[in-house]
Amino acid sequence: MTYNFDAVIDRTETHSMKWDPTSLKEQFNAEDLLPLWVADMDFKAPQPVIDALTQRATHGIYGYTHRTEAYHQAVTGWMKRRHDWDISQEWVLFTPGIVPAINFLIQSLCRPGDGIIVQPPVYYPFFTAIKNNGCHLVLNPLVYDKNQYLMNFNDLKRKAEDPRNTLLLLCSPHNPVGRVWNREELTELGKICTENNVTIVSDEIHSDLVFEGFKHTPLASISNDFSNNCISCTAPSKTFNLAGLQTSNLIISNPEIRRKVTRTIEQHHLGLSNCFGTVGLIAAYTHGEPWLEQLLDYLKKNVETLEHFLKERLPEIKLIKPEGTYLAWLDCHSIESDPIALERVMQKKAQLALDEGYIFGEEGHGFERINFACPKSILEKALKAMEKAFHGK
Ligand SMILES: Cc1ncc(COP(=O)(O)O)c(C=O)c1O
Repeated sequence: MTYNFDAVIDRTETHSMKWDPTSLKEQFNAEDLLPLWVADMDFKAPQPVIDALTQRATHGIYGYTHRTEAYHQAVTGWMKRRHDWDISQEWVLFTPGIVPAINFLIQSLCRPGDGIIVQPPVYYPFFTAIKNNGCHLVLNPLVYDKNQYLMNFNDLKRKAEDPRNTLLLLCSPHNPVGRVWNREELTELGKICTENNVTIVSDEIHSDLVFEGFKHTPLASISNDFSNNCISCTAPSKTFNLAGLQTSNLIISNPEIRRKVTRTIEQHHLGLSNCFGTVGLIAAYTHGEPWLEQLLDYLKKNVETLEHFLKERLPEIKLIKPEGTYLAWLDCHSIESDPIALERVMQKKAQLALDEGYIFGEEGHGFERINFACPKSILEKALKAMEKAFHGK
């Protein structure tokens, strides 16, 4: 089956956080913005997922849901096929989303006052999860060098050696800078953390969205030592556009860590699945690959559109070319380095709802994050609006 990712589908009547005018008003104080912000896609899910959900919906009874063998086989089969990673069914813990999971993990593995290391600019709910659970934010900023982001291992080592710092939140692939960390980088990070008893939470929610020439490596798959010291956060939500089904899985081989996290999930009574999420995950992981291959092709072309447009018509804005994810990180320093002034131009003049770089940490000042998982026509409309706002064309 060939999918049409060019189709523009009206989402305004679907309670969409990205598109609903009242949501935009809440978030940006304006209703009439073109939204390319929060990380979901303006594409329909794979047809087998739509069919499975339709069948489940027409059944008409939406009672409590049990995760059967089919669910576990779908997860373990996906990890093996797509990431060459052998995992046991018992390592898989359901959570109703990765952000809740990160909070459960901090509650399970840290004490208030512990230091938690993050690598900004990074997905901002990491900051809130750390603060809301009474822990200290410990920054190990990425190094921005010649249009490329790298990890600062010397700084990481110093921070990992401090016994007050007990956990690291890794974003792999990295939102917002789009790096797909390679095996060598992950091995270096894994060694530093494991040697210093810093547990790694590896948020791999974007791991299926990787462009040709790059390869995602699950950190826990590198060695038994890493697996023993790592919690992997996975989900079909970004991959197949199922974020509203709130279905994700932690993969934890260490039985002691698993026991602690299970206890926290049970304390909140949040281990029960959603009846649609269960069916959606099984269909996506079992039958979604042809759709995903076409999606990756389409996203790659959108990156080319973005790159070409900026080079030709708005060269003051530099694209940090993503190796993975459907989020592009734009360096706008040479056009406007003040983050609030930049926000004003994007929202008031271009009428675009983007994620402002500064929400990802101080290192994001002067940057914008644009979600390019939309039909090409919408992306072009956004780029033209940006050009007009900055050049008055
Ligand atoms: C790195 C990362 N983790 C987690 C999430 C959200 O996960 P969930 O919707 O499952 O809570 C996102 C969404 O953008 C993300 O980029």
